[in-house]
Amino acid sequence: MDINDDPTGSTSRLTIAQARTEWDVQTAFLDSCSYGPPPRRGWEALQRSLDQWRVGSVPWPRWAESVDTSRELFGRLVGVPAGQMATGAAVSQLLAPIAAALPDGAEVLIPNIEFTSGVYPFAVHADRGMRVRTAPLDTLAEAVDASTALVSFSAAQSATGEVADLPAITRAARKVGALTVLDGTQTAGWLPLDAANVDFLAVAAYKWLCAPRGTAFLTMPSQLAAADDDQPHRAEFFDRLKPLAAGWFAAGGAASYGMPMHLADGARAFDISPAWHSWVGTAPALELLLDVGVDRIHAHDLALANRFRTGLGLAESNSAIVSIDLGIVDRSWPGAVDRLDAAGVRYSQAGGNMRFGFHLFNDVADVDTALNAVTDAVVL
Ligand SMILES: Cc1ncc(COP(=O)(O)O)c(C=O)c1O
Repeated sequence: MDINDDPTGSTSRLTIAQARTEWDVQTAFLDSCSYGPPPRRGWEALQRSLDQWRVGSVPWPRWAESVDTSRELFGRLVGVPAGQMATGAAVSQLLAPIAAALPDGAEVLIPNIEFTSGVYPFAVHADRGMRVRTAPLDTLAEAVDASTALVSFSAAQSATGEVADLPAITRAARKVGALTVLDGTQTAGWLPLDAANVDFLAVAAYKWLCAPRGTAFLTMPSQLAAADDDQPHRAEFFDRLKPLAAGWFAAGGAASYGMPMHLADGARAFDISPAWHSWVGTAPALELLLDVGVDRIHAHDLALANRFRTGLGLAESNSAIVSIDLGIVDRSWPGAVDRLDAAGVRYSQAGGNMRFGFHLFNDVADVDTALNAVTDAVVL
């Protein structure tokens, strides 16, 4: 295979080294789990649009065009046509109509450490008997049973970085006709994802996709109202699935008034009015990630994460996120937190863990800065 071929479908035009020159991120920013600094092309597009807004020099559709550009680019990233994708502002908001379409008394299964944005949209329906059952991530597939209406889980856990066994979980869900909702927020951009493997894939773009806060995607099945005689409960669900926040943008993007209602077709009807400038900053970041290719970013990010893990005496793993229990850090490397702060290492603490994320703008020097700070190595 030519080095410039990318198995994700795009033709790689940028090496990791070339792509890295687009970031001004400071040394040892290892916090992509919280937010992703923008590539220069995203930052500059955003600044231009803010300037245009300040002086009123362009009509708003110029900014809104970035929604469809981003939709198309994200579709290429996860292998679905743009027409199967809704855009919004946050994962929790995009999941709300899915939860509302489940019948009274439905059971939703989640990993017991699932990030709340994939939990609360379902848990708020407790008053109509909806039950959120939890199970450990590594036995989630086994926990799926005939009572499971929907499984909601992250491709990589926010608190621990653990990568879900997607084939096992989706196979178990399919067997009982349960819907699947995958949260790719901690993975899209570094882990190859195929949206066709699940019913719904939700991703907030402000972390590993290096977009401004306020843009998110939801992929949907191609046939939203498909009748399936074998699984009538699924057909009923899709019949009940409604764009609950439909406004003027759900009609296709042009302002309209009064009745009759003209909703856009399919997933597009689930769009909410876009945060214009955030979308302007999102499209160039997606374009860059596609230009590099997720497979390459995956290899780069894992190599850095595993260098860090090995340096700490931990076994290698399949995640770009390295998460270590704070208690273990305190016992093994007393003073590590203070040393990380003093060295200017940006990381985060989540669920009682110290969490480091390694992305395409990071390099070996970032890893070693963090390693030396944690272990108190003397750097000669
Ligand atoms: C797995 C996961 N999903 C979603 C989000 C963000 O959720 P929302 O877009 O609802 O704010 C986060 C943020 O940390 C996350 O880690």
